[in-house]
Formats: sequence, C-alpha cells, structure tokens
Amino acid sequence: AAQHKLRLSVIGTGYLGATHAACMADLGFEVLALDVDAAKIERLAAGNLPFYEPGLEEVLRRGLASGRLRFTTDFAEIAEFADVHFLCVGTPQRDDSGAADLRYVHSAVDALAPLLTRPSLIVGKSTVPVGTAAALAERIAAAAPAGAEAELAWNPEFLREGFAVQDTLHPDRIVIGVRDGRAEALLREVYATQIADETPFVVADFQTAELVKVSANAFLATKISFINAMAEVCEATGSDVTKLSLALSYDDRIGGKFLGPGLGFGGGCLPKDIRAFMARADELGVEPALSFLREVDAINQRRRARMVDLARELVGGSFEGAVVGVLGAAFKPNSDDIRDSPALDVAAKIRGQGARVTVYDPAALENARRAHPDLDYADTMLAAASDASVVLLLTEWQEFREADPNVLAKVVATRAMVDGRNALDPERWREAGWTYRALGRP
Ligand code: UGA
Repeated sequence: AAQHKLRLSVIGTGYLGATHAACMADLGFEVLALDVDAAKIERLAAGNLPFYEPGLEEVLRRGLASGRLRFTTDFAEIAEFADVHFLCVGTPQRDDSGAADLRYVHSAVDALAPLLTRPSLIVGKSTVPVGTAAALAERIAAAAPAGAEAELAWNPEFLREGFAVQDTLHPDRIVIGVRDGRAEALLREVYATQIADETPFVVADFQTAELVKVSANAFLATKISFINAMAEVCEATGSDVTKLSLALSYDDRIGGKFLGPGLGFGGGCLPKDIRAFMARADELGVEPALSFLREVDAINQRRRARMVDLARELVGGSFEGAVVGVLGAAFKPNSDDIRDSPALDVAAKIRGQGARVTVYDPAALENARRAHPDLDYADTMLAAASDASVVLLLTEWQEFREADPNVLAKVVATRAMVDGRNALDPERWREAGWTYRALGRP
C-alpha cells in the first residue's frame, strides 16, 4: 500500500479498535494503538489477537511486519505521534437503568487532551448516548493546552463481529459528525480509499451522527423481534415462520436481512444499545417515542423462555436429573464473543432447573468456561451430545448445520433435537428417527 502522510492513533484495542488499527495500517497509514491493559498490548504487539475474528490476525501481522503498526500504553507517545486520534473504548451498560457507562470515554479524553502539543483531531467511534460529543468537545477545549488546536469529530462504526475486516475496508457507508470543514477534510483524507471505492459519505452534525448509530441498531433489533413475534403467532396457529420470513423477504421494501427467526439477538451491542437508547430518551423527556423498544426487548427475552419450555417438554416435563447437550455458546457463529449470549442464557436457565448441561462451541469454550463455571463443557459436538435426553442447537455454526443426524443418533440417549436457530432441515432429522422441534415451526 502507498504510504500516507497522516499519522493515526487508536485508543482502546477491543474488537473495534484492534480492527480499525490493523486495517488502517493495511491501507498505508502509520498507526500507533494504545490500551491501558498492558497484557493486551503485549499480545497484540506479538501478533496475537486476544479474541477470535476471521482474517484479522493476518492483517495484524502484516501491519507489524511492515513497521506501520505499533502498540503502546503511553498517552504521551500517541499525543506526540498522531494527527488523528480514534477513540474506540467501550461504553458498557452502567446498571439496571440500562444507561451507558461513559467512564472509559471520559478517562481516555482526560488522559489525552492535556498532552496535545500539536494540531490534533480526536474522532469518537465508540457508541455513545446522543449529546455526548458536544459535552466532550467542551471537555477537550477546557483540558487542551492553549493553542494546541484540538478538535473533535464523531464517526460511528457499523462493523459486525465475524465480518470486521471486510466491513472496515468496504463499509456500507461512512458517517461523520463535524462542526467545521477542517475536520471533514481530514476525515476525507483518512477514508480516501473507501471514498474512491464509492462508499457513500454522509456529513452531519455531532448529534445526528451519534443518533445514526443507535437508531441503526434499534432498527435491526426491531426487525429481529418483529419476525420472532410472528414466530409466536406461528406457534399458536401451526404456521411455519421460516416460510413466512422467506415470503416476506421477496418484498424488497422489507428484505430478508435480519429477518432470521430463532432464539433472538444477543452480543455486546444490540441488547445494550437499545437499553441505553431508551435510558437516553427518558432523560430527554421523549420516553414514549422509544417505548416500543421495551417490547422489542421483551419479545427477545420471551424466545429464550420458550426455548427452555420446549426442551423441558421433550424431557418429560422436568429437568431434574435430565442430561442436556448444548451446541453453541457464542452469541452468534464465527465469533468467540459470549456477551449477552442467548445460548449461554438458555443453558444456564436449564442448569438452574436441575439438568446436567454439557456445552460445546467451536470458538467460545474458553470464554464460556470462565463466565459459567456451573456448566459442563466438551471439546467436540459428539461429546456434548453423549447420553443426552435432548440436544439443543443454540448458535448456528456451520459445523452444526452440517451435523449428520445418524452419527449423532449413535451417542444420544434419546433422539430429541430442539433447533433454536432454524438451522437444520426438519425432514432430514425426522427421517433419521429424531423428534425435531423448532421455534416458530410445527
Ligand atoms: C451489530 C450490528 O449488526 C453492527 O452493524 C454494529 O456495528 C454492531 O452491532 C455494533 O453496534 O458494534 P454484531 O453485534 O456484531 O453487530 O452482530 P449481528 O450480526 O448484528 O448479530 C446480532 C444478534 O442478532 C446475534 O445474536 C444474531 O444471532 C442475531 N440475529 C441476527 C438474529 O437473531 N436474526 C437475524 O436475522 C440476524
């Protein structure tokens, strides 16, 4: 890649920051990435990703080998080095109110701003409540040394885990919130490759840019809960929600994406973001405008309860003494992320009702073990299904889609399968002698 003259820093090396840093180095920028977690920085600097993301480790190693990508824990070093600082720290859920916890955003800005010695642009990428950027701009202006020309822009990120590299190099759109033309010009330079690729580039104010992000996730969550609400109706009428979803998808005003019925959404973003959005609406005095999201959340939770009920039915009405095999722990396939994972939530609920639950996942076992030591774990799909009175498919990994019902039949105690992701072919499993049940399908 051609060398760019702009030098970048990335603050926070989680899924978002590590991906952004590695991809920008791949595009030719010199990048210095910072995290306060020294162990994480050490791993990354040695070319090892602290999480699972297809294709990213190669990009990371290429960046390190080129010398364009480096890591540090020292804010003074990035202040001295970079023209543009990307803020990629987490904004977890604060408490039961659902509001976002901004402490990492604040501490990053407070650490950086006083050290700025040259004209700098700080670009927020973290998902924040609307209004945060305006407050941060004041915080930066107050803390930056006189004459440092420190500026702020907001640039929400839409990448999906599992497709992080592709989504960064070829995003659907780039959205920036700015207050003046200099920030816009700098960001056009940063994203020159994507812009040349005809990526739509939307320029807005701070608060609109912040809102684009949270409303995108609210819309996606709503689509999933819509089809899962239809699944409830299908269950009451003997209809097939997978057929329904397919037929709806041919109306291109509706579309088939994010219309996959099943156990519903989880992960570090959708559930937390809709709750933070509702909490913010509350503060703004427009609570009724987002009260439908409470329903979106409730529908999503009901799918988990329904899954537990179906499984209990199949083991004869009580989990006491039952052996349950669970396929999947990650919140979705191609990820080792277990944050708010519907799969682990269901597994834990069933364990809580007295069953012995053995979980297998192709990538998330280590994370699952740490978070749920009460569950049992197996290193293969067959071992997890061994002696099971019911098997539950909770994350639709390709390995599970391709599972052979005849092979699995040899190890289970009873041929009973609940397909929580509508990932299997019912006929194939029934022909192999299985009792097959799914969400939203007869
Ligand atoms: C989501 C958004 O898709 C990204 O655009 C956004 O940038 C990101 O959140 C974020 O805010 O950082 P991600 O959480 O990685 O990305 O995962 P998704 O692929 O969106 O899946 C979310 C959940 O919805 C998963 O649990 C998945 O199983 C579920 N899902 C998805 C369904 O139940 N049905 C579907 O049809 C699609």
